Amino acid sequence: MQVKIVIGTIAFMLTMMIMGFAALREPTRLEEYTHAFEGRSIENGAKIFEGNCATCHGMNGKGEECENTAGEKIGCQGLPLNYQPLLCGDISDRTARMNAMNWAGTKDAFVESVVAAGRGGTAMPVWSAQFGGPMRDDEIKNVVAFVLNWENDALCDEELPTFDWPTLADTFLTDFPDGDAANGETLYVSYGCSGCHGAPDGSIPANVGPDLSAIAVDGGTRIEDYTAVMYVYESILEPNAYIAEQCPTGPCVGPPSAMPANFAERMSANPQDMADMLAYLLGQ
Ligand code: HEC
Ligand code: HEC
Repeated sequence: MQVKIVIGTIAFMLTMMIMGFAALREPTRLEEYTHAFEGRSIENGAKIFEGNCATCHGMNGKGEECENTAGEKIGCQGLPLNYQPLLCGDISDRTARMNAMNWAGTKDAFVESVVAAGRGGTAMPVWSAQFGGPMRDDEIKNVVAFVLNWENDALCDEELPTFDWPTLADTFLTDFPDGDAANGETLYVSYGCSGCHGAPDGSIPANVGPDLSAIAVDGGTRIEDYTAVMYVYESILEPNAYIAEQCPTGPCVGPPSAMPANFAERMSANPQDMADMLAYLLGQ
């Protein structure tokens, strides 16, 4: 009898210890579960991104190096997503893109809403089945988790270059060394211009923005007192300053223009790219 009580007591104490230990570990298990869940979501998102988004945004989300389904290099039509102004916020997690687009909600909701509903009037398609797109809610969540996961210290701590672009005047080009047209042709693809405007030699048809094959002449007719060089320079730096009339599928829309407004920022790293691009498009 005595022995049974002793064994019973020990067994009871052991059970309590094990249960107590399990209870202590519960929050960690929950955390591990959450991490594993997030990890799986990001992994699934990566596959979705590769199959649906990389053609326009690039496999690394930088808006460079896009390929079509046949594996050929094409110009990227989409904006960079693996990109400080989109992902890196201030203390309240507001990012430069949210401010630029007047978005009042959270960053996650900003990205999710563009992915789900697309951006009307631009090449960014609708993805959510709720708006007539091809994806379920969980697929949207996964690909959004994958995009948001590009935020990291290296991306956010990087000093972004800013260049003081010379103001518009017909002499502004003298501020640049001579442009290299051959390099301009390469840049025209790597900046994604060809993704929307096609190739000026007609080998790739324009599909979103106007055909630029005659821009060296037409550019001088768009705005009074503007030379073609001034017009193209301003079109690249400030697409909203003037909306061209004729786009490949009808009248061009805007402002806001469907042409990304961040080339001034992107070219700041290499202002000479502007001179090379102008040399290519205008033969200057
Ligand atoms: C056909 C080309 C195309 C495809 C495919 C595409 N996008 Fe886009 N995306 C764009 C364009 C163009 C924009 C810029 C729209 C604008 O001018 O505001 C954009 C904008 C975005 C933005 C907002 C970026 C910002 O800074 O405002 C996000 C986020 C985004 N895309 C995510 C995705 C995801 C995720 C996919 C795949 C599910 C995808 N896109 C597929 C063309 C595309
Ligand atoms: C996402 C698509 C897209 C990309 C990428 C893009 N553009 Fe555009 N671009 C447009 C659209 C749409 C217009 C017409 C609306 C407007 O005038 O802003 C336009 C207008 C222009 C015009 C004025 C054309 C005219 O006939 O008056 C020039 C010049 C131009 N873009 C040059 C460029 C260059 C150079 C690049 C690359 C650095 C580029 N664009 C990248 C869509 C794009």
